[in-house]
Amino acid sequence: MILERQNVINLKKLQSQLGGLENRPRIDELAKLLKMFQLYQSGQREISTKLENLDAEFQVNFDYNPIHHMESRMKDMQSLLQKAELKGYDLTADSIQKNIYDIAGIRVITNYVDDIYSIEKMLTKQTDVTLLRRKDYIKHPKESGYRSLHIVVKVPVFQSDGPVDVPVEIQIRTVGMDMWASLEHKLRYKTDANKELVDKYGDQLKNYSDELEQIERGMQDIHKNLI
Ligand code: GTP
Ligand code: MG
Repeated sequence: MILERQNVINLKKLQSQLGGLENRPRIDELAKLLKMFQLYQSGQREISTKLENLDAEFQVNFDYNPIHHMESRMKDMQSLLQKAELKGYDLTADSIQKNIYDIAGIRVITNYVDDIYSIEKMLTKQTDVTLLRRKDYIKHPKESGYRSLHIVVKVPVFQSDGPVDVPVEIQIRTVGMDMWASLEHKLRYKTDANKELVDKYGDQLKNYSDELEQIERGMQDIHKNLI
């Protein structure tokens, strides 16, 4: 099952949304950005299909699904341009494509920790998928307690005039890691001052993340003993 969070965009809507940016891209550049968006969305679909196929194959071979569910999202154009501006990149399609890797994103939620690495392995060994970046926040959790495996892969998208490689960011995490991350994210938004959350509850949140890790490892052991 894939939950898609997608905004419909067109040039007119986009121009009116971008009022707040200091250096608004020119209209011809915006048209290029929209084309790029469409391309990235295709890349996202290519990878989603690959992941669904792997999950289905598992079901047939082992009567077990490593993937609990998936979510896909395209970064909306406004936050993409804001991010580019903040990081000091030119607001052009070329520069954004070169510097920002999370335009197309897929989140894969697995049942167990080991499923994370087997999905990564099965996906990246496919001959048309190339690993570009990898951050393992499970082996090295963030100070907040955040745990997840982040990879960026590139995949060819076949357009009318030939293939174009497109990067897709994939965050792979267990149901427990996802539960922690989504609640912690909401708590951050609730507090105007991020610092207050960290000062008052930072340790507690980190401890909960550690506890969840223990629980998940324990439940994985039970699962392994039963199969
Ligand atoms: P940017 O994408 O430019 O921010 O840099 P990056 O790719 O180096 O960042 P990172 O690897 O930290 O991944 C960013 C994404 O990870 C965020 O959009 C969140 O989805 C998630 N993330 C990172 N840290 C935390 C955290 O402490 N709490 C939660 N809930 N999510 C986090
Ligand atoms: Mg990122």
